Amino acid sequence: MEEFNTERLGRLTGMLKRRGVILPAFEIHGGAAGLYDFGPVGGRLRNRVNQTWIDHWQSLGNIVEISCPTITPYSVLEASGHVGEFSDYLTECSECGEASRADHLVEDIHPNADTLSKDELSKLIEEHNPQCPACGASDWGEIEAQNLMFNTKIGAGLSGRQGFLRPETAQGMFTSFTSIYRHFRERLPFGAIQTGKGYRNEISPRQGMIRLREFNMAELEYFIDPEIAPIHDFSLWKNPVTLIADDGGEVVMTLEKAVDNGVIRHPTVGYFMGWTMDFLLSVGINPSFLRFRQHESTEMAHYAQDCWDAEILGSYGWIECVGIAHRGCYDLTAHEEATGQRLRAWRTFDEPKVVEIDGWTTDGAKAGPAFRSLAGKVNQFVEGLPSDSSFPLSQNIEGTDLQILPEHVKRVQRTENVNGEWFVPHVVEPAFGIDRIIWHLLDHSYTETEKSGEDYAYLSLPEVIAPVDVTVLPLFEKDGMDLLAQKIHRDLCSRKNIFSVYDASGSIGKRYARADEIGVPWCITVDHESLSDNTVTLRNRDSGEQTRVSIDDLPF
Ligand code: GLY
Repeated sequence: MEEFNTERLGRLTGMLKRRGVILPAFEIHGGAAGLYDFGPVGGRLRNRVNQTWIDHWQSLGNIVEISCPTITPYSVLEASGHVGEFSDYLTECSECGEASRADHLVEDIHPNADTLSKDELSKLIEEHNPQCPACGASDWGEIEAQNLMFNTKIGAGLSGRQGFLRPETAQGMFTSFTSIYRHFRERLPFGAIQTGKGYRNEISPRQGMIRLREFNMAELEYFIDPEIAPIHDFSLWKNPVTLIADDGGEVVMTLEKAVDNGVIRHPTVGYFMGWTMDFLLSVGINPSFLRFRQHESTEMAHYAQDCWDAEILGSYGWIECVGIAHRGCYDLTAHEEATGQRLRAWRTFDEPKVVEIDGWTTDGAKAGPAFRSLAGKVNQFVEGLPSDSSFPLSQNIEGTDLQILPEHVKRVQRTENVNGEWFVPHVVEPAFGIDRIIWHLLDHSYTETEKSGEDYAYLSLPEVIAPVDVTVLPLFEKDGMDLLAQKIHRDLCSRKNIFSVYDASGSIGKRYARADEIGVPWCITVDHESLSDNTVTLRNRDSGEQTRVSIDDLPF
């Protein structure tokens, strides 16, 4: 593994584009910043990384995969806080009008510019007069908060509703909580995973695949009972890991010790850091270039109470690729309040308890006729209200705006023997930026060397994610070698999870080099001998070793 530097980065991105791994989208129309294609080689790479991720988390045993729309109604993202909170600070160059992220303009001056407030950023920009990256001028307008979501309209004309392209897959898993809870027979803990597109209208996308406007996400929302101490097996991770806690101190210790010492505050967060590390290493991330950094309170997302990022070192420096956030009861509570629907789990007490009930219920005689089919939902909502609530009270229930009047409700004050209670589960969320991870595994596996006096570069990708499993090469396209090679190729392609490429162009050395360049782990060469004894040469990418095997014994 070589040093990261700009020249190597240029050669790597050039190769990825030339070989159809990752390339700027819509280039024949001039391109569009922050949008990338996974090309003929990259498409399968992305798929395999996604599938490895899904398999990895499903092996926990209590995880279900769901798929929700990317188009999301306004009310969902208003409830989740994204309408109000999901923004970056923008400023425009007074000379050329180029919009820049204010923190990017001062990131060389302040190490954590993205944690600064609007006033702190204004002050720094005024003091240091950073140059506009587009025209070089140093005259900046007012800083404004810019919401990062893409607006859209769901439906046409006056009946169309405002919506957004989702900024995270997570919200669909919160709004589907009831169905997931039922699926798991109403027993915590359990998780839902989702992979798919997320969208953020970045102010000034840059650094290739690192900051995209449309990107591939993979998220797990893991629902737990906050009153039950989780038991996790940390013996799986014996090696110490690098941890940078929110006080800035770097420590190297095992995850188990970090949880025991309180460096990592919640055991499930620590456990998922271990699972995250296992996944990243399995797809080819170099463990020497991986660390975990805890968010400072000023950089935490609006929904999180604690968050550790898995950061990976590559050609763009240390980059956040996974966030493992403790979202507490934030999201379920927010959607509950906005919809009046119960998004809770039932906790059964060890022993029945005598409790003081002090709250509200509906008066069936008045509320029934007033709310008709929604009366049950209104009752559920009212019974969840605190005792100091006052009426009339406006509430949207299942998309209908309702006025709950004093005559619809009754005060309830009594003692009761109860055997359990409803509570809002807490959520721990490992959220993966798949494009960033793919970028880094390519960056880490790209190796430049020399062969026979010539430059030689290859990708040492793990077999589990290699975009092409095997290349089949006829030594010459004659005497039936081509026909036999094509037959082997087609036979391999028909096997489950095997993708083969037939390559007959150029010298055999060039063809091996072409296969190595995109990380194909195996090459099969058909030669004259193959025609008589049904054997081929099997070449391994990493060792270069070539062995003679029978076609019937190929290891695929
Ligand atoms: N759900 C985490 C994120 O959007 O980054």
